[in-house]
Amino acid sequence: MIRKKLIAGNWKMNKSSAEAVTLAKDIVEAIGRETSVDIVLCPPFTALESVGRVLEGQSVKLGAQNVHPEKSGAFTGEVSAEMLRGLFTTHVIVGHSERRSYFGETDAFINKKVLTSLANQLKPILCVGETLVEREGGTTLAVVQRHVEGGLLGVTKEQITTVIIAYEPVWAIGTGKVASTEQAQEVHAYIRDLLTKLYGAPLAQKVRILYGGSMKPANAPELLAQKDIDGGLIGGAALESRSFVDLVKSAVAAG
Ligand code: 13P
Repeated sequence: MIRKKLIAGNWKMNKSSAEAVTLAKDIVEAIGRETSVDIVLCPPFTALESVGRVLEGQSVKLGAQNVHPEKSGAFTGEVSAEMLRGLFTTHVIVGHSERRSYFGETDAFINKKVLTSLANQLKPILCVGETLVEREGGTTLAVVQRHVEGGLLGVTKEQITTVIIAYEPVWAIGTGKVASTEQAQEVHAYIRDLLTKLYGAPLAQKVRILYGGSMKPANAPELLAQKDIDGGLIGGAALESRSFVDLVKSAVAAG
């Protein structure tokens, strides 16, 4: 197996600190010692510390949903990579489409976050993906290319295998409309080709590319069976322990 599958839960702006602890405990109880698949929980900032305590000594990792590129200073409302590391965070989602659309994040800004994360030993989960208008306009691959190349600017050969890419078609997020396995695999293979051009085949083969967008236990096995789909970035189905645990089990079964 070249690439270990990875299932990450993006809890978005959901769960109080207390609710997050309950959810994390339920997940840990069911799959806390699972090592054949990497598992990451990304609670909101306010629950990072409490969830981190639940994950102590378990194989489940802690991820944040955002990071600011600067080290410290007058950036009201923001959180630095160093602060995240201080809470034993190992992963961070960058460039989620919700941040691109609601908060105006550009590829250049997202690229700074990727570089800051890597410089601080945080593994970035770089999100890329087209909107419905872009898909219907036939520009899916061009948009994905811009997101991937823009996000990875300056990332070295030594760093690239610690980057995780998440292909999240915007029209599939929270809509119940999952991409077909063919649609998803086509874009994943395209991303792998881009990585091959940028970093060479041996390294490109090691980078994990996750799918995100209405992924659920019912559609996961087929998606996870695709050659270039190495896991999932899960929104809605990660907010309930049973569905999240089932998704992890699908990834274990898919190898
Ligand atoms: P849903 O699984 O709710 O569609 O969300 C996907 C997502 O945006 C994960 O980052």
